[in-house]
Amino acid sequence: MAYKHFEFIEKNAGLLAILTAVMVSLGGLAEITPLFVEAHSLKAPPNVHPYDPLRLAGKDIYVREGCYLCHSQMIRALRFETERYGHYSTAEESVYDRPFQWGSKRTGPDLARVGGKYSDDWQRLHLMNPRQVVPQSNMPGFPWLANSKIDGADIQARMRVLRMLGDPYSDADIASAPAAVEGKTELDALIAYLQGLGIKNEPTQSAAATAAPASDGGAP
Ligand code: HEC
Repeated sequence: MAYKHFEFIEKNAGLLAILTAVMVSLGGLAEITPLFVEAHSLKAPPNVHPYDPLRLAGKDIYVREGCYLCHSQMIRALRFETERYGHYSTAEESVYDRPFQWGSKRTGPDLARVGGKYSDDWQRLHLMNPRQVVPQSNMPGFPWLANSKIDGADIQARMRVLRMLGDPYSDADIASAPAAVEGKTELDALIAYLQGLGIKNEPTQSAAATAAPASDGGAP
């Protein structure tokens, strides 16, 4: 009897396609739903704070200029990665990244822990024209960033939106934002952002233990 039902489905290409799609969707939901639940229960570790105004501006410039198209910010828990870049990335360290900048393309190196690796002056020269400091570089220059100033009111508006989304900015944080970005260029903001990567959000031991497998050696 049951066999006959299957035969009916198998002989109806349209019905077979629909039922196949339903089954595949159920499988997808079973995989995706737990990830969403987990993402919502993620809390920032004590040392990770929302971006200060200048770094917030810098992060948005990083996104606008498409730096993520060549740079990941996601160190995998594999020895050759942790030996080159440092502690593997954890979900907690990017709770305040909207959208997160993990990326998947590495034309250039991973930037998750690039903060403090070079001086501000090096970063400035490199972003104006990478070949001044790395002759063989094929990274494009971003000289126009030195010519535009950060707008304090604009940053305040962004902070208010982020607060609505749950980022714990206080009224005082928002009120003092224009003073913090006064006279700063987009280049200054981007450098401030880069110099904090992996430092302002360094994973703590407990955060690391819950966020990724404890072993960071060997291939998967
Ligand atoms: C077309 C690809 C490409 C784009 C787009 C790009 N980069 Fe790069 N980047 C590279 C390459 C390749 C290197 C390695 C050579 C070098 O140091 O210049 C690099 C190196 C770097 C380094 C030094 C990393 C280290 O550990 O030595 C930093 C910092 C950096 N890029 C920041 C940025 C920022 C910020 C942006 C966006 C404004 C950006 N990059 C856009 C390709 C790119």
